[in-house]
This record gives sequence, C-alpha cells and structure tokens, in this order.
Amino acid sequence: MPLRYHPSMEHAEPDENATFEEMADTLRSISKKTLADGGHGLRSVHAKSQGLLKGELSVLPQLPEALAQGIFSEPRTMDVVMRLSTTPGDLLDDKVSTPRGMGVKVLDVQGERLPGAHAERTQDLVMINGPAFGTSNAKAFLKNLKLLAPTTDKAEGLKKALSAVLRGLEKVVEAAGGESGTLKSLGGHPLTHILGEIFYTQVPVLYGPYIAKFQLVPVSPNLLALKGEVLDLHEHPNGIRDAVVAFFDQNDAEWELRVQLCTDLPSMPIEDAAVRWPEEKSPFIAVARLHVPRQIAWSDSESPRQEDRLFFNPWHCIAAHRPVGSIMRARKVAYDASAKFRAAANLVDISETTA
Ligand code: HEM
Repeated sequence: MPLRYHPSMEHAEPDENATFEEMADTLRSISKKTLADGGHGLRSVHAKSQGLLKGELSVLPQLPEALAQGIFSEPRTMDVVMRLSTTPGDLLDDKVSTPRGMGVKVLDVQGERLPGAHAERTQDLVMINGPAFGTSNAKAFLKNLKLLAPTTDKAEGLKKALSAVLRGLEKVVEAAGGESGTLKSLGGHPLTHILGEIFYTQVPVLYGPYIAKFQLVPVSPNLLALKGEVLDLHEHPNGIRDAVVAFFDQNDAEWELRVQLCTDLPSMPIEDAAVRWPEEKSPFIAVARLHVPRQIAWSDSESPRQEDRLFFNPWHCIAAHRPVGSIMRARKVAYDASAKFRAAANLVDISETTA
C-alpha cells in the first residue's frame, strides 16, 4: 500500500536556508567563471547540451487509482521538449566522462499550480542516469560543490587524464559488483551512449496524495541495442551529441515512464536522497509512453539559442507533483539563481516555455 504524504514526513533543518543561499552563490561562481572565459551565460551545472528533442508523452489507459494521479489521472497525449546533457558547468571534451542528464518538459498540463506559479503550464521531470543522488542532503552536497567549483574551466587536458584513471577505477569497482557515484561524477563514467541509459528523478515528488520517484526506461529495440554501447571518442570532443544526432537522423524512439511509490518510510526516506528505494518493496510501474520521432537533434545555428531560452526545474510542476525533501528544497533556490544569471548574461527571456 502506498503511504499517504503528511507534512510531518519532511524535516527542514533550522539553518537550511543559509545552506541553500551559499549553494546558489557557489553555483553562480561557476557560471561567472565560464561567462568570463567564454562570453556566454551557461547553466552552472549540466552546461553541455547533448541534444534537444521534441516528442509526445501518452498516459497509459486504465491505470489503477494509486497510479492515476496528477498529470497521469487520465489517458492524454501531451507534447514534450527534452534536453540531454552531461553534468559539469563547463563545456568539456566528452572524454571527461560524467553522468548523463535528461530534462523532460511536459507542455500544457492540466492541474492546480503551486501558489505564485499560476502562469506556468508545464510539468518538468529532471533526471540523471543513476538511481540515487550522490549525497544525503543539501549540506553534504554543498561540501562537495565547494571542492568542485574552483576546478571550473581549469586544464582540460588534466581532467581528461584524470577521467581515464577514474574510468579504470570504476571498471574495477564494477567488476567487483559495485558502482561508485563519486567516481562517476568526478569523470569516471564509462564512455557509454547516452540513449542506452535509464534515467531517474532520484529524489521524490508528491504523487497526488502519495510520494513517488520516476524512472525513464528505453523500450524500443533500437534504444535497447544501445545499452552499454561504448562510443569511440578519440579526437571526437562532441561524440556523445554526434551519436544522438546520428541516431535521430534515422530512427524514432520509445521510452516508458515508470513510477515507484513510497510504501515504507524507513527504507524509502524522503530526506535522505542518497538512499536507493528498494525495488523489491516497491517496483517501478509504467504510467506513460514517451515517443520521440525522427528529427534533427542538434543544429549549431539554431539549438544554442533555443536551449538558452529553456529552463528545466522540478519546481515547474502542478501542486499534485510538488517536490519534497532537502535536495528538492535546495534546488528551488539553485535553479532560479542559475537561470536568472544566464538570462541576464544572454539577454533572453527564460519565462516558461509553453509552446
Ligand atoms: C542540491 C541538489 C542539486 C542542485 C543544487 C542542482 C543544481 C542545478 C542547477 C543550478 C542547474 C542549472 C539550472 C539552469 O540554469 O537551468 C541544474 C540543472 C540540471 N540538474 Fe540539477 N541540481 C541538483 C540535483 C539534481 C538532481 C537530483 C537531478 C536529477 C536526478 C538533477 C538533474 C539536473 C539536470 C538533468 C539538469 C539540466 C537541465 C537542463 O537540461 O536544462 N539535479 N541543476
């Protein structure tokens, strides 16, 4: 049985707003550095786009009550815009191999908005290709961020060399049956094709009266064939994006959007983002299909301008899918600060994309 959300399940730390502000400042220092070096306002993290896509999300018919919630309450097809990315705040050679990100913006959704957000019309799902976040809460994340921020735009050659070493270490960890989020986030991610990956929201949102995490899973055979495929990135600094472009030049693709409901708070915590919710206790269950047709996934002349105007944020949501937990509360401050910075730097309007 899914647990019903109650405000007592969330525990804000007394000084957490100060942590969030410090985090936003540290993130801004990354964007300031990349602006000074490259003359363009970039996202503080996930700066490098690995493709921009349009598609359609279709809610499955006859979902049971527990799953027929929020934007999934009736079988509807909605347009989506997607941005694929890699995590650093600077634009690096893809051989500095880091986790992969995917933003899915569902357009023109129905449902009550959060207070002060009545003009918004989208539901954003902001995901990474790993099942849990690297740190438990905002304070722990800030500590890591402060170590990482000063390396922005420094010595790409060194980062490539370090990435190769870390990938080697990650292979050793994986051969022993493990996986290290830290090694991957520092550049030790295997050189895999981004379209073969499973993406996760990692941290929870409300799901009507319940609480849930999402997963986006490749289901069409052409995507499944890319699982674990290693890209040849030798002298190919944008090899990940080029592989996405080559794929969508020839193929349509299909993903399944799945939901994992919280059924047990001790093993499926809201405030500890580093805990992977056990699938034995609550499996991911399909609620929608995402169809992405053949298209041009990146154009050097058009896409940079388009992605400057795009702003993915888990707080772009209907009230029935409000984000919950420390990391989510931190993201509210951090994403707005980053988006405001790049909007001002690039002289663009980042009001929500609805068309
Ligand atoms: C405290 C934790 C986190 C902080 C401070 C943070 C911060 C940020 C910031 C500042 C941006 C750029 C916003 C913009 O200018 O548009 C961003 C983008 C992004 N974040 Fe996070 N993030 C956090 C956690 C997460 C988690 C848990 C996920 C997913 C599981 C995630 C996935 C992404 C993705 C995919 C993007 C790129 C969105 C796009 O393509 O525009 N982040 N994050």
